[in-house]
This record gives sequence, C-alpha cells and structure tokens, in this order.
Amino acid sequence: MQNMFPAEKSISEILAKRESNGALRRLYVTDKGIDFCSNDYLGFARSKVLADMINEGMAKLNVSNGSGGSRLLAGNSKYAEELESFLARLYSSPAALVFNSGYDANVGLFSSLPLRGDTIIYDELVHASIHDGIRLSRADSFPFKHNDVAHLEERLQKAKGNIYVAIESVYSMDGDTAPLKEIVELCEKYSAHCIVDEAHATGVFGLGMVPQMNLQDKVYARVHTFGKAVGCHGAMVLGSAALKQYLVNYARSFIYTTSLPLHSLVSIECAYKLLQKSPDAVGKLNDNIVHFQGMINDNDGWIDSNSAIQSLIVPGNENVKRLALAIQAHDMDVRPIMSPTVAEGKERIRVCLHAFNTHKEIDTLLGAIKQELKK
Ligand SMILES: Cc1ncc(COP(=O)(O)O)c(C=O)c1O
Repeated sequence: MQNMFPAEKSISEILAKRESNGALRRLYVTDKGIDFCSNDYLGFARSKVLADMINEGMAKLNVSNGSGGSRLLAGNSKYAEELESFLARLYSSPAALVFNSGYDANVGLFSSLPLRGDTIIYDELVHASIHDGIRLSRADSFPFKHNDVAHLEERLQKAKGNIYVAIESVYSMDGDTAPLKEIVELCEKYSAHCIVDEAHATGVFGLGMVPQMNLQDKVYARVHTFGKAVGCHGAMVLGSAALKQYLVNYARSFIYTTSLPLHSLVSIECAYKLLQKSPDAVGKLNDNIVHFQGMINDNDGWIDSNSAIQSLIVPGNENVKRLALAIQAHDMDVRPIMSPTVAEGKERIRVCLHAFNTHKEIDTLLGAIKQELKK
C-alpha cells in the first residue's frame, strides 16, 4: 500500500544513503545501565519528593487534563499568569513568557524579533533551535567562531540595524561555558542585544549563569528550559514587558499551538520551589563534576568543561557508535553523538553527570572507557 506513494521511494533512497554513511538515527529504548546520558542533572525527573509535591499541588485544583487551546484563546489561565509572575520575580526580570519547549522558545524568539535590515551574530555552536529560528527570520545572520570574542567584535563592527548576539551560557554538546562578561561588555560597546540560552546552566550554575554573574540587566533576553535540571518540560523567555507583549503578538510557536497543560505548569512551579530547597543536590552534582575532572586527562580527547556535560571526541560515526555499545556492555548508559548532529570529525561520547551518580560509578565508567579505547 505504502509503495503506491512516490514519496516512499524518495525517502527510502535518502535513508539508505544515510545508513550507508553510518549516520542513520534510530529510536531505541533502554532501561539498562547507570544513567550517564540524560539531562536530568539534579535527579528531579525521577524525584519522588517532586512527584509528591506535584500531586499535592494538582489535588488542590479543579480537574484539568489539557489546556484546551492556545494561550491566546482557551489555553490561558490564572495559574499560567501567576507562574510567569513567580518566575519573573525569581529571576529579577521584568517579565517571563512560558513556551511549550526550549525548541519553541528559540524558534519563536529568533524568527520574530530580528527584522529585515537587522543583524544576528551567533556562536557557531549554538543549538539547532536557534539555527531554525534564525532561518525563519528575515534578518542577515553571521556565525562567529566558538567563544572567540575577537571574531565576534569583527562581526559587530560590520553589523547593521538592530544587532542581536546569540550565545549559550553552557554549550549543549561541548559543555564549555561562554565568556559571558566579555561578550556582554562587547554587546554594550556596540549597542547589541545579547540573548543567552541558559538551557544547560539552569539549576546547575545556580538559577543560571546570568543571575549568578549578576548580568541580568545587561542581557536583553534569556531562554531557560525546564526539561533538563528542572526535571519537567517547557521553557521560558525572560525579558522586558514590551518583549513579552511582542512575542505574544508575533512569535508563531507561541501563538499557534495548544499551551502546556496545568500539570506541566504545576510541575514547573514545584520544581523551582524544590530547587530553592536543594543545595544538597547541587552540591553533589558539583562534587561529581570535580571528581570527574580529577580523573580525566584532557590529552585523551576530553573537551575542557566545568559543567555537567563532558565530551570525549571519537572521530567517525562508526567508531563512536562502536565505543558507545562497548561501554553500554559494562552497564553504563552513554550515547554516541554522531555527525551531522555535530560536525564531521567531532563525533563524541557525551557524558552527562548527575547529582545521583556516585564516585564509584564515575570511576567504573572511566575505567570502562579506558579499557575499550585500548582495544
Ligand atoms: C541549548 C539548548 N537550547 C534549547 C534546547 C531545546 O530545549 P527543549 O528540549 O526544551 O525543546 C536544548 C535541548 O536540547 C538545548 O540544548
């Protein structure tokens, strides 16, 4: 039946080509192995304490399974507005706008804010969601070399219109941090609007690196995602009241979609309340990061990082897949990151550290990696 459709032939050919390049993506489920791959850095996604808080919160509210529509129609609620006020206050931001995901937040922000005649300058390693937003925008856009402040300045000197600089505080694949202060200062010098995606810093470096470094008044907009250390789902853009109103009017990924259900909103609020009471989890995560760093040697191919993301470069899709499988056989859940997700030659094993990992598990993981690399 499917063979009647000509598209089936085209897509089969494309998939066969991708498979022959060793780059075919596949969904698979595994419940085996110590978690060294999820973004659940603080263990909130698996926290019984958080689950109980959410259930208690939900029990106080009228039954509401789905939100019923877009925020601009039936999908808005007092709860959603109060959550945004709570988050804005928590982050010392004039306003917060919740999106259904970090992907939606970045696509909505970058596709709508920069206009024709404006310039977007972005770090070459920013997340796919920022790239997709930029692609939908009518502004001119230019990458700058990863974390290279001098190259950014060269780009700024040539930029026209309103200028937007897109960076991540912690880079999702390399795990390294941006030179935030220098970038913010350069943005000030050139009257550029700095936009910081804090997805992998949220909950790991305090509420994020921008508030930790007290730079919130110098950054134009921030994106925080709730699906990583916060252990839930969704995201928000922090910025001025005018920016919030603008996004409500022009960010299509906010407007044309059913909003998050009440359960997600309650989960986000409870997770932030738990985060404020969880110095132990943050302390354990930091202790594990320090322990991990003490055990590795950068000369072995590890990218320098002081975040929860630690990546070992293993060039070649087949090589990195083989290594990941061999490590998984030691009961360690690590995943290969292949090209084209990362550049060719930069394929890697991306280790995510968590508060719930033990030093012994980390030592076993690193022992298994060493053993497999020697073969
Ligand atoms: C830097 C960065 N921004 C945005 C996102 C997208 O967030 P979400 O998973 O909530 O869509 C991710 C997720 O992988 C990310 O790493």
